[in-house]
Amino acid sequence: MAAAGAFLMLFLVSHLATNLLLIKPDGGESFNKAVEFLLTNPAVKIAEYILFAGFIIHIIIGIVLEIHNRRSRPVGYYVSPKSGTSHFSKFMIHSGIIIFIFLLLHLYHFFFVKLGLVPLYGGAADGTDFYPMVVHTFKIPWVVVVYVVSFLFLGFHLKHAFQSAFQSFGLNHDKYMPAIKVAGTIYAIVIAVGFTIIPLYFYFIF
Ligand code: HEM
Repeated sequence: MAAAGAFLMLFLVSHLATNLLLIKPDGGESFNKAVEFLLTNPAVKIAEYILFAGFIIHIIIGIVLEIHNRRSRPVGYYVSPKSGTSHFSKFMIHSGIIIFIFLLLHLYHFFFVKLGLVPLYGGAADGTDFYPMVVHTFKIPWVVVVYVVSFLFLGFHLKHAFQSAFQSFGLNHDKYMPAIKVAGTIYAIVIAVGFTIIPLYFYFIF
């Protein structure tokens, strides 16, 4: 669970870095160059397979753990336990489901067009001409709302995920835990705010 999650967290850093090029005012030139590099690099192709395997493993184990936890405590606590678990940790399955639904919509917008499963739109020349698709997608108000709300939940999910991964790997020494928590909060904010800027830029400014 943690290993797959850690890989997904690294993916998000690289995905954000590529997508932030979208807001560089050069008509999508830098973004297109980055996409071309990613599409023609065989190592990226392998990483894409690992990424999808990572998502599937992470989701399946997450669901199994949730079912296991509910079965072992079917009635729930009458008084909330003072175990130090944060609100974020209790709602990992809920934020996870929201991110999963977002992901289906997101793959429909871009990845499935690349695969030829969804027709070209927004004046895109081919299935990898993502810039006009992005411009078109983020001019639709409800899509912008869904993306922005999903990024908020992604931030909550990541805040807990970051420190949880360290615990799973046994790297949660008392001395370092406060620093790990701060790093997790910073990571979650950077990712959530970074992604949020993109739809807002295309809706309000572009
Ligand atoms: C505004 C924010 C985002 C934009 C503009 C964006 C854009 C894109 C684009 C253009 C693609 C197609 C790339 C390709 O298939 O070669 C893509 C694929 C993908 N995106 Fe995003 N993305 C955003 C946020 C996210 C977030 C937050 C996640 C995960 C929670 C995510 C997960 C994925 C995945 C799994 C793929 C398919 C694998 C891949 O091709 O890299 N994206 N995204």
